[in-house]
Amino acid sequence: MPPRLIAVSNRIPTGSPSSGGLVVALRDALSASGGLWIGAHPDPGTGLEEMEEVSGGGCRCLAFRLSEEEISDYYLGYANSVLWPLCHRRVDLVEMPSTYEERYRAVNARVAKLIAQVARPDDLIWVHDYHFFPLASELRALGLANRIGFFLHIPFPSLGDLSVLSQPEDFADWLADYNLLGLQTRGDVARCLEMYRADPRAEFMPDGTVKMQGRITSVRSFPIGIDVDHFRELAGVGGRNPFGREAPDGFVIGVDRLDYSKGIPNRFRAFGRYLKTRPEGTRPCLVQIAPPTRERVQAYQDITSELEEIAGRLNGAFAELDWTPIRYIHRSIDRSVLARLHRMARACAVTSLADGMNLVAKEFVAAQDPEDPGVLILSRFAGAAEDMTEALLVNPYDIEEMAAAIHQALEMPLDERRARHAACMEVVRRTDATRWAAQFLAALRTCMPTLSPQV
Ligand code: UDP
Ligand code: G6P
Repeated sequence: MPPRLIAVSNRIPTGSPSSGGLVVALRDALSASGGLWIGAHPDPGTGLEEMEEVSGGGCRCLAFRLSEEEISDYYLGYANSVLWPLCHRRVDLVEMPSTYEERYRAVNARVAKLIAQVARPDDLIWVHDYHFFPLASELRALGLANRIGFFLHIPFPSLGDLSVLSQPEDFADWLADYNLLGLQTRGDVARCLEMYRADPRAEFMPDGTVKMQGRITSVRSFPIGIDVDHFRELAGVGGRNPFGREAPDGFVIGVDRLDYSKGIPNRFRAFGRYLKTRPEGTRPCLVQIAPPTRERVQAYQDITSELEEIAGRLNGAFAELDWTPIRYIHRSIDRSVLARLHRMARACAVTSLADGMNLVAKEFVAAQDPEDPGVLILSRFAGAAEDMTEALLVNPYDIEEMAAAIHQALEMPLDERRARHAACMEVVRRTDATRWAAQFLAALRTCMPTLSPQV
């Protein structure tokens, strides 16, 4: 039998349209290559010793249940209140009761046992994201010598910020048990290598791999992407106008989970600044789709209140009886509707303060009519900006610069819009989801195999 691919991620495709970039990209990639996808069941449960088949994703999915305590301490706790803020340069938001880390390690150990029950010796195992940093170490401890790759969808943390962890040296150790460590950008790779340079246990090999206590890891960037043709089809002309008869005339769109890393309050402030100075007679509109996410975490409740306050204030100040400048929707929207919204928009604002890649930026570009495209306003701090240098790059902390970029985008001559769009589209095609997965897996297959681990 040919080697199988086993993908592991906390989130698996089970119907929620706002499940984020990981599920979108991996679903696109795995439906092309087949394989087995293992992740957490969307509902809590108690049958912790086995996995169950769930439908979704265009490939076979097996789900493990998380108990209520595990959801609190592993998912909302260590993953989303320690590792997420750490990787998104918000160590001020880190919360660290000791149960978070204990349960995080315990869930990784438990999931490793479940995987060991189904993995064959020649399967490729591909682990995704910060919920599972220690998973390879746990699998090695069970005796698995398979090639195991890891892809981090979010930014690699900076060396200084890593000291916020109770045992920072464990972090490099966890990663060393993977044969291949995939990161989004060259900047992420540089930060990762900086971490290894500061670690006396790590050695740099002549082929660029890192050796740590006998384990060899290759560290490379694989910028993630989307299924371009599928998204273009969704956006295609002929679909129903999602606004009915009330489409705003030339609008800016924003689409983000309501996460503090997305810089949405500053985007609203910049739009407010633009409203003050807009050309006479214009009635610009910002359509912001911001579905809720991780709502039990305090920092997410705070950002929701902040955003609602700003939206209310700006609409109160600028709206007319027949014009609402900010249309803010705090619900998830189906991808086919999103695709058509992107196509109709004159500009898209991606203003993340930190972001692994940002697929919305790529989706907006893919959805455009190349003859009359809208303009992408893109934060310098989103991974996408490393390659999409012809977007209108902005500093998301600089409200005036972003207001000027909105003006520039809405007034941009057709020739310039076409040229910028063509350059961005070239990147979107070059980095599409299928190639991303194929390149990662090809690299994993050629990694030096792990010698049978000491159990
Ligand atoms: N998305 C969606 N419905 C929504 C909001 C977002 O389908 O209401 C999708 C969006 O189209 C994109 C993904 O969720 O494919 C978000 O990925 P991104 O990389 O931009 O950010 P993440 O949420 O992973 O941080
Ligand atoms: C980002 C993360 C994913 C996560 C997604 C949605 O894309 O990289 O790992 O699945 O956000 O977040 P959630 O907490 O709802 O899974």
